[in-house]
Amino acid sequence: MKKILAPSILAADFANLQRDVEMVNKSAADWFHIDIMDGVFVPNISFGMPVLQAINKHATKFIDVHLMIVNPDQYFKTFAELGANMLTVHYEASTHLHRSIQSIKANGMKAGVALNPHTNVQLLKDTIKDIDMVCLMSVNPGFGGQHFIENTYDKIRELKGIITAQNAKTLIEIDGGVTNKNATQLIEAGADVLVAGSYVFKANNPIQTITDLKQMMNI
Ligand code: DX5
Ligand code: ZN
Repeated sequence: MKKILAPSILAADFANLQRDVEMVNKSAADWFHIDIMDGVFVPNISFGMPVLQAINKHATKFIDVHLMIVNPDQYFKTFAELGANMLTVHYEASTHLHRSIQSIKANGMKAGVALNPHTNVQLLKDTIKDIDMVCLMSVNPGFGGQHFIENTYDKIRELKGIITAQNAKTLIEIDGGVTNKNATQLIEAGADVLVAGSYVFKANNPIQTITDLKQMMNI
């Protein structure tokens, strides 16, 4: 399968959001990655529904929404209406994960589950067939621009083993600290989707940076 690159809008220039969304539209990137933080599940607040609505007005690619919020279930319908194509909830924020996954799908979206760096991938063994994508956090969620946690490679290989053993179709997404230094190695370990925030948006030439990353991913 073709590998997917999802620039994270968290690192965009919010005063020039339309410009940055159009840059991603024009680029070789595949998805938009949208980080919603509530200041409770993570120690930071990003943006909420009105900003997602504004992004969706201009975005022409698949919208991958990463919820770093407590009690996510109450907003599934709203996120579907706002144009989310994939909705990812955190394992650590879900008391009834199986129900949440079914509910995301019932609202017409693909269902993702994110794991914090300390959360063992084996915890998804019993739900993996129902999950469209597992997002492995390769930094502690809450902020862009952090250093990649090296243990992520082992987690990718272990998760890939679970997916293959059950003949599941689940994608593996890596979120946090992705750069040209680790992109190829992450794909080799078994990743399907790479999220990149600061590395793309803080670059002198984001379009070229996206092209180069994509080239590194399609090995
Ligand atoms: C972190 C977010 C990430 C973040 C990645 O909590 O989930 O999506 O935007 O940013 P970089 O690529 O800068 O680590
Ligand atoms: Zn994210």
